[in-house]
Amino acid sequence: MHILVVLALIAASAEGKGTTVRKTGTGPTGYEVDFVFTPNSTTNASSVLLGGFPFFSDPLHASLVKTDGYTPYEWRADMFSMRLSPDYGNEAGTLSGLAMQYNNQTGDWEVTVPLPSGTWLYAYYPDCTTGNWRDCNVSLVDPSNLPLEAFPGDQLLSAIQLPFDGEFQVQNYDWQLPLEDVSKRGNVSFHQYASPGSTSPYPDVHDVGIYLPSEYGLYSNKTYPVLYLSNGGQGSDSDWFQQAQIHHIMDRLIDAGALEPTILVTPDWYNLGFTLEEYETNATLQAEYLDVVGYDRFFNKVRENFFSYLMPWVEDHYAIANDSSQRAFGGLALGGTLTLAMLFNATDYFSSYCVMSPTPAPAAGDSQYNATTNPALRQVGILTGAGFYDTTFPAARDWEVALAVENVTYASHYSMTGAHEWSTWQEIVYVYLRDVLWRPVPYSA
Ligand SMILES: *[C@@H]1O[C@H](CO)[C@@H](O)[C@H](O)[C@H]1NC(C)=O
Ligand SMILES: *[C@@H]1O[C@H](CO)[C@@H](O)[C@H](O)[C@H]1NC(C)=O
Ligand SMILES: *[C@@H]1O[C@H](CO)[C@@H](O)[C@H](O)[C@H]1NC(C)=O
Ligand SMILES: *[C@@H]1O[C@H](CO)[C@@H](O)[C@H](O)[C@H]1NC(C)=O
Ligand SMILES: *[C@@H]1O[C@H](CO)[C@@H](O)[C@H](O)[C@H]1NC(C)=O
Ligand SMILES: *[C@@H]1O[C@H](CO)[C@@H](O)[C@H](O)[C@H]1NC(C)=O
Ligand SMILES: *[C@@H]1O[C@H](CO)[C@@H](O)[C@H](O)[C@H]1NC(C)=O
Ligand SMILES: *[C@@H]1O[C@H](CO)[C@@H](O)[C@H](O)[C@H]1NC(C)=O
Ligand SMILES: *[C@@H]1O[C@H](CO)[C@@H](O)[C@H](O)[C@H]1NC(C)=O
Ligand SMILES: *[C@@H]1O[C@H](CO)[C@@H](O)[C@H](O)[C@H]1NC(C)=O
Ligand SMILES: *[C@@H]1O[C@H](CO)[C@@H](O)[C@H](O)[C@H]1NC(C)=O
Repeated sequence: MHILVVLALIAASAEGKGTTVRKTGTGPTGYEVDFVFTPNSTTNASSVLLGGFPFFSDPLHASLVKTDGYTPYEWRADMFSMRLSPDYGNEAGTLSGLAMQYNNQTGDWEVTVPLPSGTWLYAYYPDCTTGNWRDCNVSLVDPSNLPLEAFPGDQLLSAIQLPFDGEFQVQNYDWQLPLEDVSKRGNVSFHQYASPGSTSPYPDVHDVGIYLPSEYGLYSNKTYPVLYLSNGGQGSDSDWFQQAQIHHIMDRLIDAGALEPTILVTPDWYNLGFTLEEYETNATLQAEYLDVVGYDRFFNKVRENFFSYLMPWVEDHYAIANDSSQRAFGGLALGGTLTLAMLFNATDYFSSYCVMSPTPAPAAGDSQYNATTNPALRQVGILTGAGFYDTTFPAARDWEVALAVENVTYASHYSMTGAHEWSTWQEIVYVYLRDVLWRPVPYSA
């Protein structure tokens, strides 16, 4: 099985040249990635840095504000990749890159890196004068392994996935890998819909990503449940596919019978014609600089916009069940705050909510939590969570307490190896899809 996985991954890279995953049978992880960057006349450089993924920490030294930044060469089985916000220091551990070597036979830049199982995001940084990739002037995705969609922004990275090797590793993330059987893989595509006021990608037109389960189209008249999953701050409609590889996660769960075939919609709440800043009030600075009142107002505006333009387009174009029991909404970080706007103000349009690392949430006692005035809050399914080392961990716990005070039941999942990063959201969404979505509501812990 592992051999098949490796072949599938190698076949995904361009004609043998470019980045490849190789089973080594030796430590530290049992697998290495040969990163190969072939420059052209415009990307020729005198040095190239490989960066994009945070270095590693171990549970003994990690905290909400500290990571040790062990390199992949120093990896041990209890370590995990850990991204901490540069706001908290730890830039070296979070943002260090690895110098690539020039191969004067081939003209390529190369570096071989041992990595454990999971999804790794990376880019190449030519002529960067520091070892810290966030400071570099130029960031290039891997020409041999392009992202699914070329969206603008600082999160445009290539992704490579590695299989688990039980001889060297403990944590198995094979649930993220593509299904071997290509015919059982769903279809990911990106679309544009009319959204008056939108400023991107064109005036009055907005982007959305769609995943259709592999059986879609086989049965006439069959309708499917739909899950909307939102991006976070600085993100886009591509994130759930490119950074989380969620289509592979869904393919595997559907194939295993753990998840009903489900349509996934990934909207983008940026560039709808109004900005977060326009809604800033600075009235309730509950957690650091977070303006809860302003964010609520902004995300209620996004909610109205999606109900006016996104949902009707989706419902017109896809065979979606017209029943709240088959509609769900989720999101991460600021997208978790959008999910709260849906939960509080579209409560019974959806039956299930997945709130990941919400930043920020209204404080306990806020009238929005009042389940006497909004009894539907006690009837929907809610799964909430964050990373154990996530900057939003305290906010996530606080909003759970706010639910509990109102006797609103929920399930939760906290990633024990997670910070504020995609590996955390991959894990929470995996638990959400596998254990609770489309099961009886409300969910209990
Ligand atoms: C060189 O590669 C870069 C990115 O990898 C690409 O944007 C550019 O179009 C290429 N230039 C030529 C001349 O092929
Ligand atoms: C890059 O620059 C080196 C040194 O000037 C040159 O030898 C090489 O041919 C260039 N490579 C490309 C792809 O332009
Ligand atoms: C090419 O690389 C080899 C091995 O590192 C080195 O010995 C040789 O001098 C290099 N040749 C050029 C032209 O840089
Ligand atoms: C970015 O470019 C400027 C101007 O060429 C240069 O001075 C600076 O060192 C570059 N920064 C990095 C991190 O490479
Ligand atoms: C995937 O969906 C797109 C857009 O709906 C369609 O054009 C394409 O043919 C589909 N691909 C496969 C393999 O079914
Ligand atoms: C699909 O629905 C239409 C309209 O309700 C019905 O006439 C038709 O028989 C259905 N087809 C199948 C295959 O169930
Ligand atoms: C909120 O604070 C920001 C940053 O200090 C400021 O630019 C903005 O004008 C303030 N907004 C209001 C409504 O006071
Ligand atoms: C969906 O269901 C609602 C309420 O049951 C109904 O009013 C509406 O017309 C239905 N929409 C479609 C497209 O069938
Ligand atoms: C729900 O949305 C309306 C209209 O946008 C807004 O006035 C109201 O404050 C929102 N309610 C909550 C609980 O967010
Ligand atoms: C919730 O709303 C009810 C009915 O409006 C009110 O009696 C109760 O005091 C509210 N609870 C809180 C905690 O504000
Ligand atoms: C929550 O449940 C407890 C125990 O049944 C009850 O005492 C309390 O009044 C309930 N609180 C609300 C807000 O309904």
